Amino acid sequence: MKKKYVLVGASGRAAYMFAKPMKDDFQNECEIVGIFDINPLRIEAVKTMAGIEDVPGYTDFDKMIKETKPDCGIVTVKDCYHHEYIVRLLNSGVDAITEKPMTIDEVKAKEILDAQKATGKKVVVTFNYRFAPYVTKVKEVIATGVIGEILNVDFEYMLDTWHGADYFRRWHANKANSGGLLVHKSTHHFDLVNWWINDTPEELFALGSRRFYGDNRQKHGERCMTCKEECTFRIDMTKDDFMNKLYANCEEGDGYIRDTCLFRDGIDIEDTMSVNLKYESGAFLSYSLIAHSPYEGYKASINGTKGRMEVAEYHSGIEAKNPSYYINIYHRDGTVSNINVPKSEGNHGGGDQRLLKMLFTDNLPDPLGHMANTIDGAKSIMIGICANKSIAEKKNIVLKDVLDWSKY
Ligand SMILES: NC(=O)c1ccc[n+]([C@@H]2O[C@H](COP(=O)([O-])OP(=O)(O)OC[C@H]3O[C@@H](n4cnc5c(N)ncnc54)[C@H](O)[C@@H]3O)[C@@H](O)[C@H]2O)c1
Repeated sequence: MKKKYVLVGASGRAAYMFAKPMKDDFQNECEIVGIFDINPLRIEAVKTMAGIEDVPGYTDFDKMIKETKPDCGIVTVKDCYHHEYIVRLLNSGVDAITEKPMTIDEVKAKEILDAQKATGKKVVVTFNYRFAPYVTKVKEVIATGVIGEILNVDFEYMLDTWHGADYFRRWHANKANSGGLLVHKSTHHFDLVNWWINDTPEELFALGSRRFYGDNRQKHGERCMTCKEECTFRIDMTKDDFMNKLYANCEEGDGYIRDTCLFRDGIDIEDTMSVNLKYESGAFLSYSLIAHSPYEGYKASINGTKGRMEVAEYHSGIEAKNPSYYINIYHRDGTVSNINVPKSEGNHGGGDQRLLKMLFTDNLPDPLGHMANTIDGAKSIMIGICANKSIAEKKNIVLKDVLDWSKY
């Protein structure tokens, strides 16, 4: 039977990941019955972009729930409000699907876990990266045992100066909104490693700095649209149809400015981060994230008792032109196996489309456990949350001392 969904947040993500595909590709499985945001202009923009003009828009969440009686709410607002709407959905007897990160600190994470326990409702955390065919293949190959018991993982993620810089232009640039990049962005990467090696994070130490973006690099204005300074990072929102419709044209509704200067005062997130983590099995993770690389992607190696696996994905730069990805396995006898994984079409390495199919089709088999729940969501954000604490307090942090998710 068709399920009734409400969109909680008229965000960019709501428009291209959910509203449009739900209308175009999943109309037999789901119906969008309402869309909520604090900005009525952005609600109208999302409706027009997705071709769902008939769907009622709401700036009053409770009114939407009362009038539309949904089966499920899809939470795609700013990260710092995820917990609020997940809890309100659950307490109204409605299941929730939430964008990553599940939330941004341990107090909010506990509220979600408590509400889910009390209501028994379902919460899915949309880790779309798990669904990319290349990433799935890595999971599959590790699960065969070919590299043996996992001893250590090195994972290096590079954001380029288009994507990476963008986090410093808008709400993500403050930890109170996003938890910083170790929560907002790294939640994907920590979840991948947790899922690939099927382990639980235990204790960590982290370092972080901001030396590329922020107020210490060059003369700056307040926002690109009005800035008179010479700057290679300038963007013109009015020349990009998506940004123009969703952000520039909607500023009057809530004052959300999408092109604030990435060299302005007041930014408090890091652009260079490093985490050393121990898993419950005894395996180590060495992780780094930079937001100022000339190209974007990741390189990882996974070392086990029987061998070593090397993987890499490039999203921009010269290597991004390769038609396929490789998994290289170095065996103890000196031989090497190469697995070639052709690139997939679609957003996020083809992950978005596969995730949507899983979300909206009943009873699809899930042998590798792609669908993530609140415990998976907690395990990945708690690495970032505790890394933030470690940076601030300059000490090791045991994750379960901060939030013991095993009680749920
Ligand atoms: N999985 C992925 O690959 C992926 C990619 C992009 C974004 N996301 C996630 O999607 C979410 C939205 O990101 P975006 O970049 O599309 O955001 P955005 O900046 O386009 O939109 C944020 C929305 O939140 C709304 N909002 C702000 N405060 C609110 C409040 N108090 N109550 C209700 N709504 C409020 C704003 O009005 C705006 O419409 C984030 O959680 C982000 O992490 C995930």
